[in-house]
Amino acid sequence: MESNVKVLLFAASLRADSLNARLASLVRSVLERRGVEVDHAAMSGFDCPSFDQDREAEGLPAGAQRLRDRLAACDAFLIASPEYNGSMPGVLKNTIDWTSRFRPQPFNGKQAFLMSASPSMAGGRAGLWALRVPLEHLGARVYPDMFSLAQAHTAFSEEGTIADEMLQRRLESTLGCFLELVEAAKHYPRIKKEWVEFLGEKTDAATDRVELNAVNR
Ligand code: FNR
Repeated sequence: MESNVKVLLFAASLRADSLNARLASLVRSVLERRGVEVDHAAMSGFDCPSFDQDREAEGLPAGAQRLRDRLAACDAFLIASPEYNGSMPGVLKNTIDWTSRFRPQPFNGKQAFLMSASPSMAGGRAGLWALRVPLEHLGARVYPDMFSLAQAHTAFSEEGTIADEMLQRRLESTLGCFLELVEAAKHYPRIKKEWVEFLGEKTDAATDRVELNAVNR
């Protein structure tokens, strides 16, 4: 199958035997079978020192610059993220915060698909609801459906697919629907790209963080 879409994919775990990394590898093979060009990254490449606004004057860290560059080169991004204490990993939020300081806003207008894997029965889903918040705040178009692999420590087959074949098919068809949206968004460039950080607030050039389409400037 042919596709014109390029995506960035990474698991937001630094752990060597990460379940989310296994899920990301599985998703990579599904996407590549559909002809999608996949930039498969590692969270370690995006890791940044703890965010400190005083350090910004010295420049933004290399991990955030790498994420910015790789986001700029893709049509969409997919994250397989662990859930820690009902939320996203600090390492991921820290990288998002640093990356959000670039202009233009690197997440704005990018299509996004969120996944999680956890030994728990809920598969880390609460962490994805938390992850939606900063991504949508920054203008990413986060796909409504999310995939959370429950009891992930026993869910994979030896070949690296999901042992439950029906569940594997559901994941594949959901990814297919997401890719159609990415493809459509790519061909309709007037689709939402504007970003107003606090839409509805009194406008103020001193504090506004806004990116407008050329027609509305
Ligand atoms: C967890 N884990 C976890 N799981 C879950 O489903 N909900 C949760 O709230 C938490 N909280 C949590 C906190 C901390 C500090 C740790 C270390 C772990 C378990 C977690 O899902 C499990 O360790 C996964 O295997 C982590 O993902 P990776 O590294 O395997 O991708």
